[in-house]
Amino acid sequence: MKREWRRVSSQDQGIMGIFVFGYILLLLLIIPSQARELASQQSSNDDTVGLLTFKRSSVQSDPKNVLANWTTDSPSPCSWFGVSCSLDGRRVTSLNLTNAGLIGSLHLADLTSLPALTDLILRGNLFSAGDLSASSATPCALETIDLSFNNISDPLPGRSFLFSCNRLARVNLSHNSIPGGTVQFGPSLLELDLYGNRISDSTFLNRSLSICQNLNFLNFSNNKLAGKLETTPISCKSLSVLDLSYNLLSGEIPPSFVADSPPSLKHLDLSHNNFSGNLSSLDFGRCSNLSLFSLSQNRLSGTVFPISLNNCEVLETLDLSHNELQLKIPGAALGRFKKLKQLSLADNLFFGDIPPELGQACGTLQELDLSANKLTGGLPLNFVSCSSLQTLNLGNNLLSGDFLTTVISSLQSLKYLYVHSTT
Ligand SMILES: *[C@@H]1O[C@H](CO)[C@@H](O)[C@H](O)[C@H]1NC(C)=O
Ligand SMILES: *[C@@H]1O[C@H](CO)[C@@H](O)[C@H](O)[C@H]1NC(C)=O
Ligand SMILES: *[C@@H]1O[C@H](CO)[C@@H](O)[C@H](O)[C@H]1NC(C)=O
Ligand SMILES: *[C@@H]1O[C@H](CO)[C@@H](O)[C@H](O)[C@H]1NC(C)=O
Ligand SMILES: *[C@@H]1O[C@H](CO)[C@@H](O)[C@H](O)[C@H]1NC(C)=O
Ligand SMILES: *[C@@H]1O[C@H](CO)[C@@H](O)[C@H](O)[C@H]1NC(C)=O
Ligand SMILES: *[C@@H]1O[C@H](CO)[C@@H](O)[C@H](O)[C@H]1NC(C)=O
Ligand SMILES: *[C@@H]1O[C@H](CO)[C@@H](O)[C@H](O)[C@H]1NC(C)=O
Ligand SMILES: *[C@@H]1O[C@H](CO)[C@@H](O)[C@H](O)[C@H]1NC(C)=O
Repeated sequence: MKREWRRVSSQDQGIMGIFVFGYILLLLLIIPSQARELASQQSSNDDTVGLLTFKRSSVQSDPKNVLANWTTDSPSPCSWFGVSCSLDGRRVTSLNLTNAGLIGSLHLADLTSLPALTDLILRGNLFSAGDLSASSATPCALETIDLSFNNISDPLPGRSFLFSCNRLARVNLSHNSIPGGTVQFGPSLLELDLYGNRISDSTFLNRSLSICQNLNFLNFSNNKLAGKLETTPISCKSLSVLDLSYNLLSGEIPPSFVADSPPSLKHLDLSHNNFSGNLSSLDFGRCSNLSLFSLSQNRLSGTVFPISLNNCEVLETLDLSHNELQLKIPGAALGRFKKLKQLSLADNLFFGDIPPELGQACGTLQELDLSANKLTGGLPLNFVSCSSLQTLNLGNNLLSGDFLTTVISSLQSLKYLYVHSTT
């Protein structure tokens, strides 16, 4: 509006000047002060109203006074704290109030209705969930929303929450107290981070996995998911990272869980749960991109190494520690992993000698933890070629021999060594 006035008034300054002056006078006289503020703001940026509505409806307290200059005194919101605009200054494209210390209850629709707002970063405030429904009146333009480290303790309201944002790619809700609810999203979503909430309802996980479409990052770690894992990531065509660690999941892992995952899967963390059952019955399928696999801190048994794990040729981290596995170390199988950097079999019931074939993984191996098992014999001589080994833990086994002088003394990069036995 302002720009048009300028253009016209330069053509005919006299008449238009009087007209504009008269119009402003009219506003001053008859329109109540708030509407007057809004009207004058709209002349420079169409999103001022939305931002001020957000400030009024969602922010109860601003102890650091960061929103002090969010007032109608400044002509455009583009210089307000945390606000970024499009090049022409007419639209707000990003709002970043990271660690601003704001306290309040979030009314999301005031922001999702800003038609060009693509990045909404409210990380590190104390917003609770006032109303998390996005506005359905205006199409939502959000691509990234980060509400991590806030005070959201209400269930997620399903479809009304962000489903209308059909360009939304990244949602970060980590470090809140979300108890569950449902999250429903469309094919644009790539990352969903729910780390560190208190989601206990495993239908939430079930649902996320069954509608996951193009999702490539799903972090459910550190929640309270309980019960059995009842679904596999078979409908996730692009999943790369799946973290279910630090929950209370129990029972058997569906045997086809890994095999059903898409070839894009790189990082699968099922550690720190209460899974039981037989490791030998897990089918790893082709696992052609799997580089991290952790089952640490569960109650898995197993007397046979799962043959299909051999397909995971690019494995860098394999952590089977703190389970109830009772077998000889499958040296030939493990020695075949040409990229292995971290291997932990600690705190199981592995028995027999440390196989020399394991030394074949030595070119890349940086951490080897075989502690707290029932291993006998010494460390094979070919371990002298473990030139990258930094951490070696052989403690609490039944080892014997002089491998400290013959093998370990020649490991140049070794920084941490434990061979002590307390038994
Ligand atoms: C508002 O505050 C921010 C940061 O404190 C500052 O960069 C900006 O210039 C201020 N804008 C106005 C209009 O005073
Ligand atoms: C948001 O602002 C913080 C500092 O206030 C900055 O460190 C961070 O990089 C910004 N994030 C984005 C996505 O611009
Ligand atoms: C956090 O949310 C809880 C529950 O909604 C509320 O009782 C508490 O006052 C909030 N904390 C702050 C600092 O606003
Ligand atoms: C989500 O936010 C947390 C904390 O602010 C951060 O550490 C984490 O990396 C973010 N997640 C993603 C996927 O970017
Ligand atoms: C999870 O989904 C599977 C099918 O994928 C279904 O059989 C099971 O009942 C669901 N579990 C829950 C708790 O909803
Ligand atoms: C899940 O989130 C936590 C906290 O941000 C992080 O430490 C962990 O690495 C994430 N998981 C993955 C697989 O990125
Ligand atoms: C496997 O990982 C590589 C390297 O990160 C990537 O380029 C490739 O697309 C992945 N394969 C699949 C099937 O996603
Ligand atoms: C783990 O599962 C077993 C049953 O399989 C149950 O008895 C035990 O209480 C569970 N432990 C935890 C910490 O949930
Ligand atoms: C685990 O499964 C394997 C192969 O299916 C079988 O040979 C073995 O006896 C089972 N072990 C246990 C402890 O059930």
